[in-house]
Amino acid sequence: MKKFGEGIAFGKVILIGEHFVVYGLPAIASGIRSLKTHLRVKEGEWNNEFEDDVVAALMRISEKMGFAGKSYSIEVLSTVPFQQNLGSSAALSASFARALDDLYELGLSDDEINKYAYEGEVVFHGAPSGIDNSAATFGGVFEFKKEKSGFFIKPFPMQKPLHLLIVNCGEKKKGTAALVEQVRELKERFAITEELFHAYESIFNEFKNALRKGDLEYVGYLMDVDHGLLNALGLSTANIEKARDILKDLGALGSKITGAGGGGNIITLFMNEENALRAKLYLKKYGFESFYFVIN
Ligand code: MEV
Repeated sequence: MKKFGEGIAFGKVILIGEHFVVYGLPAIASGIRSLKTHLRVKEGEWNNEFEDDVVAALMRISEKMGFAGKSYSIEVLSTVPFQQNLGSSAALSASFARALDDLYELGLSDDEINKYAYEGEVVFHGAPSGIDNSAATFGGVFEFKKEKSGFFIKPFPMQKPLHLLIVNCGEKKKGTAALVEQVRELKERFAITEELFHAYESIFNEFKNALRKGDLEYVGYLMDVDHGLLNALGLSTANIEKARDILKDLGALGSKITGAGGGGNIITLFMNEENALRAKLYLKKYGFESFYFVIN
């Protein structure tokens, strides 16, 4: 065993498919390599400042990795921002699994790390699809589907770069688990919501083809349409709609919730870097912070 182990994992954006992916439909996501959670871990007492769910998630990961009963003291060298739909809990879980792998010199594969990171997500979110931990573990752009036998993960080659602004639309009143539950309740209560799921399948196929062709205007339109479905599932907020209106006037091709929604960040597509950076400056005047991110 080493003196300490280190682990790094990434933040994420979901380009299309949040919530639908929980029910086995396909999605496309990307890790954000510039947003990292970086941990240094050694055997010791759990950090006092950690909330109970954090300790429970990390304990579950260490148990599944064969270290039941052990506890750890953790130095957080950097972290993905919390509660902003950028995958902080998954990045924490994946970086912790990587740190234990390093500490005990296990030589695990990325797939194994991802499997353990998922176990942390189960504590944080109840019934996660596995898309967030996959982005946290692998980085890159990929197509994802939760299957009975495990995760289907396939790298997605981009035809043209996507110039995105990730726009912070304020505090979230509900966490991911509660928002996933909200969708489940709506689905059970009103059978008509099935139609949204059917529509999503067609939108996903069009989106994938448009990305493959590099047809950015159509990609943007489909982002708007997908956002409409998520809004119909009660996942948008007044602030998100305000930001989307402003972004449209600033030349956005499309914008949508990314991740669980209910506040936090949305993603917006621009034709090029110049347009995105100009919009970023204007947005600030309206009180919205954002950062520019290219997917390629
Ligand atoms: C959260 O980032 C994405 C959701 O689809 C939940 C999940 O897939 O586990 C809302």
